[in-house]
Amino acid sequence: MSHPPYVIDEMISAKAIAARIEALAREIHAEFDGTDKLVVVGLLRGSFVFIADLVRELDLPVEVDFLEASSYGDGMESSREVRILKDLRGQIEGRDVLVVEDIVDTGHTLAKVTEYLATRQPARLRTIALLDKPARREVPFKATWTGFEIPDEFVVGYGIDYGQRNRNLPFIGKVRFTG
Ligand code: IMP
Ligand code: MG
Repeated sequence: MSHPPYVIDEMISAKAIAARIEALAREIHAEFDGTDKLVVVGLLRGSFVFIADLVRELDLPVEVDFLEASSYGDGMESSREVRILKDLRGQIEGRDVLVVEDIVDTGHTLAKVTEYLATRQPARLRTIALLDKPARREVPFKATWTGFEIPDEFVVGYGIDYGQRNRNLPFIGKVRFTG
């Protein structure tokens, strides 16, 4: 799939992201202090950089698992109908679960994923999103922890893609079309 020409303007620096993750890790410690049954669940693919940095700030016994839900495809519009494409490998019944997402936009993905995971009766089910675009919400959903609230801009980098590109940028940038 090809896209019109665009440039990427930095919005949140790698340094600002790292500092925010340190602060979030302190809040996660306060919540899960003493647990020995934490499973950190990354939503593929956009959360892979965030979850890697986040778990390395956690001084807790933690398992890592992944789940993939259907999403944007290659465009800029949410599909709204959320399907589980790849399920967890491990069991979460009775476990403490922290779901890690890159960005909450319309809210459909995390609303559906948490509803689905809740049916497996985890002890605690919490969510963390690096970014939140509250102006775009279509269903009510609020992550337990949010890294940054951002305006209604299409962003890339730090794991987040546009047409599968730009996930490798170390910062969050916004897409600006030049064509
Ligand atoms: P929601 O279901 O609309 O909340 O969508 C969440 C998913 O849409 C995220 O996990 C991202 O994969 C994708 N998404 C939302 N906003 C953006 C964006 O600005 N850039 C890239 N992907 C986005
Ligand atoms: Mg996603």
